[in-house]
Amino acid sequence: MTDNPTHHRFQTAYEGKPPWDLGRPQPPFVEVADQITGSVLDAGCGTGETLRMLRDGFKPAYLGGFDLSAEALARAREKVPQADLYESDICDPAIKVDNLDLLISLDVIYIPGLARALPGLKRLSAKLRSGGLCVLNLPAYNWLYSTHDIAVHTSQRFVARDLIQLLEELDFEVEILSYRLCLLFPLVVLKRLPGILKPRSAASVARSDLHGTPSKPLNTFLYGIVRAENELISRGVSLPWGSSVFAIGKKR
Ligand SMILES: C[S@@+](CC[C@H](N)C(=O)[O-])C[C@H]1O[C@@H](n2cnc3c(N)ncnc32)[C@H](O)[C@@H]1O
Repeated sequence: MTDNPTHHRFQTAYEGKPPWDLGRPQPPFVEVADQITGSVLDAGCGTGETLRMLRDGFKPAYLGGFDLSAEALARAREKVPQADLYESDICDPAIKVDNLDLLISLDVIYIPGLARALPGLKRLSAKLRSGGLCVLNLPAYNWLYSTHDIAVHTSQRFVARDLIQLLEELDFEVEILSYRLCLLFPLVVLKRLPGILKPRSAASVARSDLHGTPSKPLNTFLYGIVRAENELISRGVSLPWGSSVFAIGKKR
């Protein structure tokens, strides 16, 4: 595991509060969570927010998660001691159960990139039962690559077509496919523009723009927009652009 180049960088990120750790499950996932039962595996579970929600809301028969970062897993174990949590690499994952009902991987594959992750994803999806769900969230558009991506170790950003091809290759039917942060997308582009124009600054000085929270009223307003979008997505609306791309596939 430790020969994976991402490993040490993520250990460092988890020495503080990593910028992607919202302290709650990722919003798009919350909106579709009522479809979930049975055995669940979170590939790249981070500090376990999604697993905590699953435990509290759905009590799946098997709740498992792995991550490359031992520090992230230590925090996940504190939150969700009931879960089977272990250190593993999505590119070559240890898999402990057959007949999974749900495979989640939220904002992980973009780090090693699809070419490296694909063999592991194939092995993971082979463990899903027919009708089981795969939930993916990934950052959108390579042209949006900025200093933020250097800070969070992005190898690749994605478009909707990439997710269609990936799900097809893994033998899933696409149930839901949408970009996210559609309405706020112009603001995201504007904010990232300096970092897009000058993206290759040294990793040591690059900083994620997820750091820092806006004032509470503004944050509540922005989160309201995101929730409304997620509600639409969960009803099958496909938003045409956004800063990330979200998909749910159903295993054939
Ligand atoms: C942006 S965080 C997302 C965490 C979590 N999925 C969430 O939604 O909060 C990315 C996570 O992927 C993990 N990671 C990076 N490369 C990985 C790999 N090759 N295999 C497994 N986990 C990896 C990192 O340690 C980190 O916890």
